[in-house]
Amino acid sequence: MLSPALSLYVHVPWCVQKCPYCDFNSHGLKQNLPEKEYIQALLADLDQDLQRFPAMQGRELHSIFIGGGTPSLLSAQAISDLLNGVKQRLVLSPNTEVTMEANPGTAEADRFAGYFQAGVNRLSIGVQSFQQQHLDKLGRIHNGDEAIRAFEFAQQAGFKRINLDLMHGLPNQTLEQAMQDLQQAFALGPSHLSWYQLTIEANTAFASRPPKLPNEDLLWDIYEQGHLQLQQAGFNQYEVSAYCRDDDRSQHNLNYWRFGDYLGIGCGAHGKLSDLTGQRLLRTEKVKHPKGYLEQDRDFLFKQWAVEPSDLAFEYFLNRLRLFEDIPKAEFENLTGLGLDTLESSISDAKQQSLLEENEHYWIVTKKGRLFLNDLLNCFTD
Ligand SMILES: C[S@@+](CC[C@H](N)C(=O)[O-])C[C@H]1O[C@@H](n2cnc3c(N)ncnc32)[C@H](O)[C@@H]1O
Ligand code: SF4
Repeated sequence: MLSPALSLYVHVPWCVQKCPYCDFNSHGLKQNLPEKEYIQALLADLDQDLQRFPAMQGRELHSIFIGGGTPSLLSAQAISDLLNGVKQRLVLSPNTEVTMEANPGTAEADRFAGYFQAGVNRLSIGVQSFQQQHLDKLGRIHNGDEAIRAFEFAQQAGFKRINLDLMHGLPNQTLEQAMQDLQQAFALGPSHLSWYQLTIEANTAFASRPPKLPNEDLLWDIYEQGHLQLQQAGFNQYEVSAYCRDDDRSQHNLNYWRFGDYLGIGCGAHGKLSDLTGQRLLRTEKVKHPKGYLEQDRDFLFKQWAVEPSDLAFEYFLNRLRLFEDIPKAEFENLTGLGLDTLESSISDAKQQSLLEENEHYWIVTKKGRLFLNDLLNCFTD
């Protein structure tokens, strides 16, 4: 096994209020955010990871992603303290991508400028829609103009790499409305667009009181038309829901999908680490609730487990098949420690169903495979 690229994920678990569709580990903020204590806890959490996995200490960090929740609730000083603390503990590669998620309802010009000066070089703004009726239904704390203003603040602050999150297939959404959201996004000129179809997740307010969603035909029309408009506007799809201009792909997300390693710090954060000595792949999960996480002198690790060798191929393809690129066979061997012979029956099954093709060095997902990704993935279950 060769050591794959290393990233760091930092989770911030608070939001102004909880959105009814969201199942991320995020909590509506009831009091002031304990930011000093949280930054200290994050760095202590990182220290514990580095002690527990000493092999991580010498490895270069390629990307940092500060996600949530709503990280833009933190002050620029807090983000600066966090990033300085990370730099004291890990070696950063010269062009480390540092992304932070921001909610337009928490956007301020000075704050965005402060994030940029602190070393954040990519901003991901959660817009969802520019239209009031949809923002209301989604329980968002901002309007469309504020989303536009957040984008402008980001540009003025110096950010060249800006992602907008948009959702489609919203309650009572028409095809025209979905296309208008895309057109408004194009008019701003982001380098990256995440375009998610709304899903109803368990244990959310939408799951208890399901809203009326567009029917299957309309959902397909929205996807097909939207995809075409994205292409015409110069956005290339490189993942199921991710589009970018000029190859401005998110290095952090690429690393997840290419089955790279990542440390995860913060409430409920997940990590994935190759244990090169034991030829194992370890997964970690941190204490989930902010109250427990912020207890003094605590062990932040909630659980750690080794992926069963019989699950490795499935986990690899689960991530890898999200990306719209050919899959290097050598990478599979390097990152899983498994031989190509272990895949013989899965690959032959996928080829028989015309979901996959191969040449000497790569596996190539066919057009049919893209349409029936779940069927393709099923070929890699035991
Ligand atoms: C963790 S959120 C971070 C963004 C930030 N908290 C905000 O909402 O402004 C990441 C993105 O996931 C998407 N998302 C969250 N729940 C979703 C759902 N149920 N269906 C589709 N997309 C969802 C939204 O576009 C959201 O911006
Ligand atoms: S979508 Fe974003 S703002 Fe809304 S609850 Fe989830 S993490 Fe918080």
